[in-house]
Amino acid sequence: MDAARNVYRQPVVEMVLLFCVAFQICSGLWFVVRGWKQRQGLLPWLQAASGAYLAFFLLVHVGAVLFGRSVLNLDTNFYYAAAGLHVPPNQFFFAPYYLLAVFALFTHLGCAAYWQFQNASRSVRTISVAVPMLVGGIVSLLIVLSLAGMLQPVEIPAKYKATYGHKVG
Ligand code: HEM
Repeated sequence: MDAARNVYRQPVVEMVLLFCVAFQICSGLWFVVRGWKQRQGLLPWLQAASGAYLAFFLLVHVGAVLFGRSVLNLDTNFYYAAAGLHVPPNQFFFAPYYLLAVFALFTHLGCAAYWQFQNASRSVRTISVAVPMLVGGIVSLLIVLSLAGMLQPVEIPAKYKATYGHKVG
């Protein structure tokens, strides 16, 4: 992340990135609402549901990052992302929140792949969604286990836990 920050934290790059996030949220929600009555079958609903969740997640996630950086004056790093999982009962929100985010991202990309294979056989189209969903399920689980300190030891600094009202000592 430190290396990537040299690029995405350049003010111009970050402004473009944040504009893309806002555009993605607005255009995505517009598609969800516009197609509500025409949508038939599992795949269009999977695409709409994963997109709607990504819109919710992006809004909360990017809002939290900007808030953490500008108001809480915290370095929005691994500890910032992981802290919620280490102050009970917040893990009951953060575990599904992150699991669904990564799973929704892979599912949404799988749905896009599905439409690219419209002329292929049914099994090829099914695989184009099922494989990303399976990979997304595994990746999301590994990320959340890692954030929760179940794959490697994680000691969250007190100032990050304090954002959840955790008393020091
Ligand atoms: C469990 C999964 C995730 C974790 C732990 C995580 C963690 C983080 C962290 C720590 C930052 C702050 C980066 C910084 O301050 O330099 C961040 C920013 C961001 N994340 Fe995530 N993220 C996750 C999933 C996602 C997903 C699925 C998306 C998109 C679909 C996403 C989009 C973003 C965006 C757009 C930013 C803002 C970048 C900026 O302008 O600083 N994240 N994330």
